Amino acid sequence: MTVLRIRDFEIHPAYIPASEQKDLVERLRACLAVAPLVQPTTPRGKAMSVRMSAAGDYGWVSDAKGYRYEPRHPSGVDWPPIPDALLKIWRDLVPDARLPECCLINWYDGAARMGLHQDKDEADFSQPVVSISLGDEALFRVGNATRGGKTESIWLRSGDVVVMQGAARRAYHGIDRVRPDSSTLLPNGGRINLTLRVVT
Ligand code: SIN
Ligand code: FE2
Repeated sequence: MTVLRIRDFEIHPAYIPASEQKDLVERLRACLAVAPLVQPTTPRGKAMSVRMSAAGDYGWVSDAKGYRYEPRHPSGVDWPPIPDALLKIWRDLVPDARLPECCLINWYDGAARMGLHQDKDEADFSQPVVSISLGDEALFRVGNATRGGKTESIWLRSGDVVVMQGAARRAYHGIDRVRPDSSTLLPNGGRINLTLRVVT
């Protein structure tokens, strides 16, 4: 299969076949029935445009108390287990890594975006983050290890998988915008991004 690179980001276009994407969406619906999407706020009280949930031992949350990983959904329920199909993708793409302890589930509507940020609430940056895109296309921007400097962008499509490790693990990245109605995977449109992470 083709692998693209921008900077140190490794992009696997159309890694997940269409039929498997459908199965994955069903699995994720079951996860969200247990641990519903919530709209996080930043520590300063601004609502994020993305809605979030998680699976695994930990979920990433943000509210007035700050950014952090929590062992339970804000409702108090345990996060559901990470679906096996996702663990398989992780094992196939990053066989030497520890197993993921979190699958963050980000849901974008047509107006959602995510500002440039680093993933830095994990304890071990030697471990990769694997990102899976489902549904509408999104413009992914990648930058540098520090804020500022030149950036590059690429459209991520349904079924694309991005591996962030090495220098990419510390690089700023974000989603500028979603292209509504660019995929038929989700009947009501929108985009799901899954990021598998080792937390501890
Ligand atoms: C993230 O950085 O957490 C999400 C990236 C994406 O939505 O593709
Ligand atoms: Fe991120």
